[in-house]
Amino acid sequence: MLGALRVHRIGFGAMQLPGPGVMGPPRNPAEAIAVLRRAVELGVDHIDTAQFYGPDVANELIREALHPYPAYLAIVSKVGAFRDEQGGWVPGQRPDQLRSAVEDNLRTLQTEQLAAVNLRLHSGPSTDKVALEDQLAEMVALRDEGKIAGIGISTADEAQVQQAIDQAGIVCVQNAFSLLDQQDTAVLDLCAAHGIAYVPYFPLGSAFPGMPKVTDNTAVRTVAQRLGVTPAQVGLAWLLGHRDNILLIPGTSRVAHLEENMAVGDVTLSPDDVAELEAGAREG
Ligand SMILES: NC(=O)c1ccc[n+]([C@@H]2O[C@H](COP(=O)([O-])OP(=O)(O)OC[C@H]3O[C@@H](n4cnc5c(N)ncnc54)[C@H](OP(=O)(O)O)[C@@H]3O)[C@@H](O)[C@H]2O)c1
Repeated sequence: MLGALRVHRIGFGAMQLPGPGVMGPPRNPAEAIAVLRRAVELGVDHIDTAQFYGPDVANELIREALHPYPAYLAIVSKVGAFRDEQGGWVPGQRPDQLRSAVEDNLRTLQTEQLAAVNLRLHSGPSTDKVALEDQLAEMVALRDEGKIAGIGISTADEAQVQQAIDQAGIVCVQNAFSLLDQQDTAVLDLCAAHGIAYVPYFPLGSAFPGMPKVTDNTAVRTVAQRLGVTPAQVGLAWLLGHRDNILLIPGTSRVAHLEENMAVGDVTLSPDDVAELEAGAREG
């Protein structure tokens, strides 16, 4: 469940659709449109996006490929950041910035309401620190006005998630988590205890250089070869089996990878496979 919405466990993350570094137009615009249309054709009813992917590019591609949207399609966005001219990620967490970001999403996606919007927090020093309470209050106001159906929180620690549960009644948490990065297990468990969807970002280790890739892990590759599936499918199948409240949004710019990822529901990992993967992940 994503709040009141029932969605399939495998959705789609739109961050890989813009150009390199999540900036500018796609390398292959026709393939980006094809990925989105094929995703919905294959049963995706949950797409994760952001105005700051591109910026504007991911939302415009979604609108071009899929508008008018099927009634069952949950489009989830996020607010709390902007891009500077060099592609840097800049916090934008004042209530007026959160409000205009939601309105920008509604306008570019050409929709009246977003299924959910994640309040994207930032770790480390920020030039415009705003109390979480004030950010959540604005998200609640946006929900009361009907601009968003559900509130989520992203890149949040356990205390921040608990505060969001108490103050705003959130429907999802979007934090980094994968077979190779299980540091957020306490938040995952907190979400499970409250019936909140946990939507891991970087489920395959992201496209960013320097971050360990699930598909490069030796145990993942060994299990994939034994089962006759791909390493990406093993990494995603591990997530699906790990907790029932995990919803996947793997990101890809390629139809072939999308089709692989969508077939993950057919991949079954045995308890021995899972033990081997978890031991392999600990070894790195
Ligand atoms: N809340 C946040 O702050 C936040 C942060 C980051 C991401 N997100 C969301 O989470 C989604 C998922 O994260 P992500 O896209 O950054 O990383 P990811 O899903 O972990 O990995 C994406 C990378 O994996 C590759 N890939 C995808 N499917 C593959 C396959 N079957 N075989 C081999 N490689 C494959 C992609 O390359 P190709 O394009 O070549 O397939 C891309 O390089 C994003 O799309 C975005 O919607 C949210």
